[in-house]
Amino acid sequence: MAQRKRSTPALQKFERGVANRKARIGVIGLGYVGLPLACEFAKAGFRVTGFEIDAKRVAALNAGHSYIQDVPAGELRDLVRSGRLSATLDFDALRQMDAIEICVPTPLRKTRDPDVSYIIAAVQEIAPRLRRGQLIVLESTTYPGTTDELVRPMLEERGMKVGKDFLLAFSPERVDPGNPKFHTRNIPKVTGGTTPACSGAVALLYEQIFDTVVPVASTQVAEMVKLLENTFRSVNIGLVNEMALMCDKLHINVWEVIDAASTKPFGFMPFYPGPGLGGHCIPIDPFYLSWKARQSGFEARFIELAGQVNGNMPYHVVSLVSDALNSRRKSVRGAHVLILGMAYKANIDDVRESPSLDVMEILEKEGAKVSYCDPYVPFIRHGGVKKRATPFRAGTLRAADCVIIATAHRNFDYALVSRHARTIVDCRNALKGRRARGVFRL
Ligand SMILES: NC(=O)c1ccc[n+]([C@@H]2O[C@H](COP(=O)([O-])OP(=O)(O)OC[C@H]3O[C@@H](n4cnc5c(N)ncnc54)[C@H](O)[C@@H]3O)[C@@H](O)[C@H]2O)c1
Repeated sequence: MAQRKRSTPALQKFERGVANRKARIGVIGLGYVGLPLACEFAKAGFRVTGFEIDAKRVAALNAGHSYIQDVPAGELRDLVRSGRLSATLDFDALRQMDAIEICVPTPLRKTRDPDVSYIIAAVQEIAPRLRRGQLIVLESTTYPGTTDELVRPMLEERGMKVGKDFLLAFSPERVDPGNPKFHTRNIPKVTGGTTPACSGAVALLYEQIFDTVVPVASTQVAEMVKLLENTFRSVNIGLVNEMALMCDKLHINVWEVIDAASTKPFGFMPFYPGPGLGGHCIPIDPFYLSWKARQSGFEARFIELAGQVNGNMPYHVVSLVSDALNSRRKSVRGAHVLILGMAYKANIDDVRESPSLDVMEILEKEGAKVSYCDPYVPFIRHGGVKKRATPFRAGTLRAADCVIIATAHRNFDYALVSRHARTIVDCRNALKGRRARGVFRL
């Protein structure tokens, strides 16, 4: 990597600390992204401090309790006991860090504009404590230009210069919660620095904990990589959701079509329809890009179209519920509907932006009584009300006028669903090869 040769005093000091593991690592925001990253650094022998605003998370971590499904409890406990991992609410300790990773949320405002207030808040904590030789890495997904146009000026405000006095980089987080094959370490890590010294520093640091590091030319490229990946998913899911709606009209089983198309050994990648997009990434990130593109007078049409198609899927699910109830001479008003799966994807506990919440809300507005089963989500807060999960039992399935399979958790007993539910709206093809009568498939 030629970039490394352009060494500066800031970079040299940083390199020594990484080589002898004396470099202290700070992680701001200990959620789905920050906690696994902090653990990975601690496992590699660094002393890691997590900076949080959530006192409950700080207390849990310091007590050795994992609150993120992908972080094994035993592993976290051992790291905390060894003294290599701790958390604090005191941001003054940022001064002692050699590298600081920013892993805070990047949601959308109601207007669908980026809400970078969490990034700003984190950088406001760093800026007055910034010291010579520190590396700051933004990990939160955001629009291209954030690191250079927003973060850099805030850090340089007090006279220090990037690349000379401190180092700044962007590295998109690609973690896929619940994925048994790919986890923090074995997902290749893209890195981009503000200057060559910054690029060298971030690549060097990440080579210590990631199997593969993929350096790119700038922070803007690194920011755009993440948005391309997530827009690619959103657009392809939008396409396949439209195919599902089309197939419904043409009385063709879209799942069979996808399975057969997937046998092509090149040029095709399967995506599957569903009740809508969920999670903190795919429904949100593409709008960070379309917002930024709009600033330059460019309309990102694929993003908007995919957003429309995917955003309408919960309404389509409700229309299938209405068809299912009609088949039994029932109306949505007054019907008891049971949703299987409140998490946005299978085998995880995350309900952020979950389409199941939208389906529930639309059905309730139309007068249905809605309950849900989800072994990963014991309760939800929706519209200010706490709702508890119903136990998954034959009696629960029998009591519902319609059962929606919204999220295909592997520990639902689909034979039981097939045997006992009166009508079923199957959004995930979970009943493939089982029952056909009374099943309304997406
Ligand atoms: N969850 C994923 O699967 C995933 C995958 C890839 C990228 N990302 C991106 O990573 C970023 C973080 O996402 P996440 O899922 O980990 O979010 P999260 O909500 O799980 O965690 C964020 C944490 O940051 C804390 N926080 C908020 N403001 C803070 C502040 N000023 N100082 C310290 N802590 C603060 C919150 O209390 C919370 O614990 C987002 O930009 C997201 O788009 C997430």
